[in-house]
Order: sequence, then structure tokens, then C-alpha cells
Amino acid sequence: MRRTHSAFVAIIATLCALALGACQPRAAHEDDTLPHFVEQNGRHAFIVDGEPFLILGAQANNSSNYPAALEEVWPAIADMHANTLEIPVAWEQIEPTEGSFDFSYVDTLVAQARTHNVRLILLWFATWKNTSPSYAPAWVKENNERFPRMINREGRVHYALSPHFQATLDADRRAFAALMRHLREIDGRQQTVIMVQIENEPGAYGSPRDYSPTAQALFDGPVPTALVQALHDEPGTWREVFGDEADVSFYAWHVAHYIDQVAAAGQAEYALPMYANAALRDPFNAQDPATYASGGPTFNVINIWKVAAPSLAVLAPDVYARDHRTATAHFAHYARPDNPLMIVEIGNDADYARYFFHVLGNNGVGFAPFGMDYTGYGNYPLGAAVVNAETVAPFASLYEVLAPMARDWAKLSLEHPTWGVAKPDDGADQTLELGRWRATVDYDEWQFGQSSWAFLGQQERRPESLLQQGGAMIVELAPDDYLLIAQNTRVSFALADPATANGMLFSSVEEGRFQNGEWVADRRWNGDQTDYGLNFGMRPRVLRVRLASY
Ligand code: DGJ
Repeated sequence: MRRTHSAFVAIIATLCALALGACQPRAAHEDDTLPHFVEQNGRHAFIVDGEPFLILGAQANNSSNYPAALEEVWPAIADMHANTLEIPVAWEQIEPTEGSFDFSYVDTLVAQARTHNVRLILLWFATWKNTSPSYAPAWVKENNERFPRMINREGRVHYALSPHFQATLDADRRAFAALMRHLREIDGRQQTVIMVQIENEPGAYGSPRDYSPTAQALFDGPVPTALVQALHDEPGTWREVFGDEADVSFYAWHVAHYIDQVAAAGQAEYALPMYANAALRDPFNAQDPATYASGGPTFNVINIWKVAAPSLAVLAPDVYARDHRTATAHFAHYARPDNPLMIVEIGNDADYARYFFHVLGNNGVGFAPFGMDYTGYGNYPLGAAVVNAETVAPFASLYEVLAPMARDWAKLSLEHPTWGVAKPDDGADQTLELGRWRATVDYDEWQFGQSSWAFLGQQERRPESLLQQGGAMIVELAPDDYLLIAQNTRVSFALADPATANGMLFSSVEEGRFQNGEWVADRRWNGDQTDYGLNFGMRPRVLRVRLASY
């Protein structure tokens, strides 16, 4: 098992402790007990309290980061059965005047999260929020000389802050370090806060990079050796090494390096795992960098970000594509041996809920629809127009089933093969190759019989088959022994190679749950419940399926 974060911080802190003896008790000293990511054979888990933890998350709206709004956040989180709330901490609210900090909101938030038995992922909205500095304090936003904005391709002042100026970086990381120091003091033991997002959808729209004289001088200089070596390229200028991709590669490097320095300053105070999120670009077609958030961790620059920002454990996609083809292409770009698949934002309309199966079945460590609170805001067309208990329900039904076994799933997902599919837009069957067995996931069958049986004269379609909801996830517990969680579908099994035996049989199908890490069967499925595949309605169920052949 490989620790993928904070090794650097740990070494520095240890050296510091040895050399000075009198160092503050820093996070690195508590490191083994802090949340962190592990990677094992290319699979990932997020460890909290020493055990794998599955983030059944929800993100609050952008302006819900005040005590008054929290009253309308917690009921949605409870309705969802979420175990983790992602919520902003704005630079403007903790440092309204330079050098003087106000952590009263953070204190209230952490105390209330404990009361509600919910973990927190804090979102540090600072230099970049959807690329703009809107959440920076007024003393930053209004001082364009001290904190320069970028210059766009056409030579005009751009709205985004430039990543190339020390004063901006220093101010951001000083505030962030203060936040992390405070968090260590109030939460170092209890660890209600389990992770921190640095900035939000960084980069810039409307310009591939900063074209100011300062930026241009850097652009005309050599590509940093670390990057050239990591990419196995020849040394040279950005243009020489990256050709047409030079502008976006240069900007990605500098945004990532800036964010890395903010994260490192925070981790030197309190070494929680940190990540950056991406406003996504078209996963299929080339796109003019002026039309997407250039500089952010979009899929085309993940390799650059990985070198430039070693303090970040994860690069996470914000998925607002409803359609199956695009959404699953986004997931595929971010599920890598060096990057856990973690969906920190996805649309909150019902047709996004199905991706829960796909994400978890592809070793995802977490899932969190965006805008899940009852403050009266809906971000349609990205997500739902109205957010109420009905909006929350499609996610809640999934979380409710997973919540009691969240850590079991996270552990199994680290150690065992998993598969997962979300219902495709056209409702077509999907096949999962499990090795000896092949599973077919079918969205258009009644629970009894086969649609091909014309003699029964059935013409109606199952009403739920018209919904864009459902899917299946499977983990192999042992050979021929699977855990299957599914919704609104029929899952059938067959021999992958029909020549190897006469046919498949269910040795047993148990419906049950995990209790203290052990499988507990509540009943067996047989007869009608197994004769026509395993049929799942809108209520997801957990089955243990043992297969055999005759
Ligand atoms: C993605 C951003 O990261 C969120 O903060 C929010 O602005 C949504 N887009 C849109 O509601």
C-alpha cells in the first residue's frame, strides 16, 4: 500500500523537530492518523480514521457558507443520507481586513457538522472561483496594482488574477495557512474536516494564458527541468517543447504550481489531503482554449498538473454533462492509477443520479451532487431548477442503501475487482465481462418473463424503464461470488464462454447487508425472483450472488 500524500511535509516536519526540538506540534506528527489516500495496484481508497471511507457527499450552494444559511443546509444533507458536506470557506469572510482573521463561521460549521454527524470537505474560494477572484477580499480585488490581473491575447486587461505575481500568491497562501492552523487547533483530534479543495475551477475563460510582459518573459524561457524530465521531452522553450499546446501547457503549469504552493503552505500547518477541481473541456473534440477554463486541470493537462502540484492528492472533474457518452468520457479521463476518481461536483437533477453506479463501480472514492441545500437556489440547466426533498430523493435512495456499508464498499473497492454501469440514454443493454461470467444489464424488461414472449401479448413498457435512472455495480468477493447493487434494471449472468459448461446456475442469491464488516443475509431470492434474471425496481438492493455451472 502506498501513501500518496504529504511525504514531503512529513520529512520537513521530522527534520524540523529533530533540529529544533521546540517546533510546534504540527500535523505531520499526527500524520498516520490523518485522512489520506492510498493506492494499491492502481486502485485507490480514501482513508479516514484509519479505514477506507466512501464519500457519500453533497455540495452546498456557493453562498451557503454563513451560519444563517447552514440551517437550510443540514436538512438537505440529512434527507440525502450524506456522510460528507462540501462547503465553501471564502477568503473574503476569513480575512476581511488584511492580516486580521475571523474564523467564527468555520467554528460554527465544524461544531454543527459534529452535531449532525457529518464530515466536511472545505472549499477554499480565493484567487480563483470559477476562474474569477470574486471571493477574494475587497482589499485584494480592488488593488489591481498590487495584485495584477492577466493581460489577454489582444493586450487588454483580463478579469482573472495572474498566477505570476508573488504578492498574490503570498497573500492567498498566508490566509490559507492561517485557516489550516486554526483547523488543526480546533479539529486536529476529531478530524471532522477530512479534505480541502484549493481554489475552485481555476484558470481563465477568454484567454489561453496571461500575455503580460512578466508572463511573456517566462513563456520565452525554458520549460522547467522537472516537467521536461517527467514528460520524457527534450529541453527547450515552451513553444519548442509543446508546439501548438504551448500556451495552455504554460498556463496550466503556472496555475498548478501556484495552487501547489498554497496547498503546501496549508499542509505545513495541518497536512490534510487536498485537491483541485476542473471546469471541463470537450472530452472528444479540440477546443479553442479561450472557450474553456484554460489553466485548470482539464484532461489534456493532467500530466502537467501531476508534476506541478505534488501536494494535491486528486484532480477532480466537475461533471455537468447529463448525456451518458460525455459524462462517462469525463470519468474515464480522471480515473487513473495516479489519480483517484472522485466526483466532487455533479449535477443534482435526477438523471445524474445513475452515474453513482458508474463511478463507484469504477473504483470511485466519492460522489457529490452540487447545490444540495434548501436555500432556494436551483442551477438549472446544469442541475435541478428547484431543490427540495423530491430533488434529493433520487440520490437519497442510493445513499441510504450504501450508507451502512460505505466503508465495506470502499475497502472492497480497493482490494477487489469492481464493475459499474449507469443506464445509457438509449436504454440499451450493457454487458460486463467478469472473467468466467458475463453479466447483462437490461433496462427494458418486466420483472417476470421475457419481452420476447409474444404469446403473452404484453405491449406495455415498464413505466420506470422510461426514466433516466438506474444502473448496477458489482464487486467480486471471491471467484464465482459477487456483491451486486442495482436499481431499475435486470441483471442476468451467463458463462462468458458457453463452451466451458452446459450453463450457469445460481448457487444462491442472498439479499442482505454488512454488519461490522461481515455479510449478513436477510433472505434468499429464488423462484420468480431469480428465474428471469435479478430484477431491481427503483429501490436499490444489495445482493450476494454465488454462481455455479452444470
Ligand atoms: C461549478 C462550480 O464549481 C460551482 O461552484 C458552481 O458555480 C457550479 N458550477 C454552477 O452552479
